[in-house]
Amino acid sequence: MNIVILLGAPGSGKGTVAGFLAAGDGSLKHVSSGDLLRGAVAQGTDAGREAKAYMESGRLVPDALIATMIKDVVAATTGDETMLLDGFPRNLAQAKILDGMGAPLKKAVLIDVPDSIIQDRIAGRRTCPQCKAGYHVKNLPPKREGVCDKCGAQLVVRKDDNPETVADRLKIYHAETEPLIEYYRSRGLLATVDGTTGVENVAVAFKSAIA
Ligand code: AP5
Repeated sequence: MNIVILLGAPGSGKGTVAGFLAAGDGSLKHVSSGDLLRGAVAQGTDAGREAKAYMESGRLVPDALIATMIKDVVAATTGDETMLLDGFPRNLAQAKILDGMGAPLKKAVLIDVPDSIIQDRIAGRRTCPQCKAGYHVKNLPPKREGVCDKCGAQLVVRKDDNPETVADRLKIYHAETEPLIEYYRSRGLLATVDGTTGVENVAVAFKSAIA
C-alpha cells in the first residue's frame, strides 16, 4: 500500500477527482477525512458528537480526533492498493502524524483552483448522503434533478456550504493547509495540476502525475 495525498482548497475538486479515478480503477482507494467525519456525525458516535460544531462552523476538528480515524483506515489497508487521501493532512502537525504512521508516501498532488472560482463551485455542489457521490448543478448535474445517479437517494446541500462558512474555510486553508505545499515540495513529493479545466481533464492530469 502507498499513499497519494490530495491537496487543494475547499471546493477545488479533491473528492470529485478521487471518486472519479477510484470508480475506474480497483487499485485506487478513495479515503476522505470529511466523509469519515460526516459518517461519524450521522451515526452519533462520540467522535461525531465532538466534531459536529467544528465542522458546521468551518473550523478544523482537533488533530487527535481525525488522526485516530485515519490511523484505523491506514491499518486496514493492505496489498497493492494506492490510497487517495483526501482532506488529511490539513496542517503541519497532521503531516507529522501521517509521517509517523510509516505508510509510504508516493506523491502529494495539489489541485490548483483560484479562490475566485471556489464560491461558485461550492454554491452549486450537491452531495449524496448515502453513497457520497458529488455533483454540481451546472458543471456535473445528475441525470434527474436532485436525485443521485448511482443510488437514487435525494441529494443534499452540505451544512458548511453557505458563503460565510466557505469564506472561513478558505481563510483556514490559506493559513494552515497551504504550508503543506512547501513541506511536500521540499521532499520532492509535490505535483501540481490545474483544477480549472473540467472534471475529466483534471482526472487525466492527476493520473499522469501519480503514474
Ligand atoms: P472536507 O469534506 O474535507 O471539505 P473540504 O476540504 O473543505 O473540501 P470539499 O469537500 O469542500 O471540496 P473538494 O475539494 O472535495 O471539492 P468537490 O470535489 O466536492 O472537510 C469538511 C470539514 O471537515 C472541514 O471544514 C473540517 O471541519 C473537517 N475536517 C475534514 N478533514 C479534516 C482534517 N484533516 N482535520 C481537521 N478537520 C477536518 O468539488 C466541489 C464542487 O465543484 C462540486 O460540486 C463538483 O461537482 C465541482 N467540481 C469539481 N471539480 C470540478 C471541475 N474540474 N470543473 C468544474 N466543476 C468541478
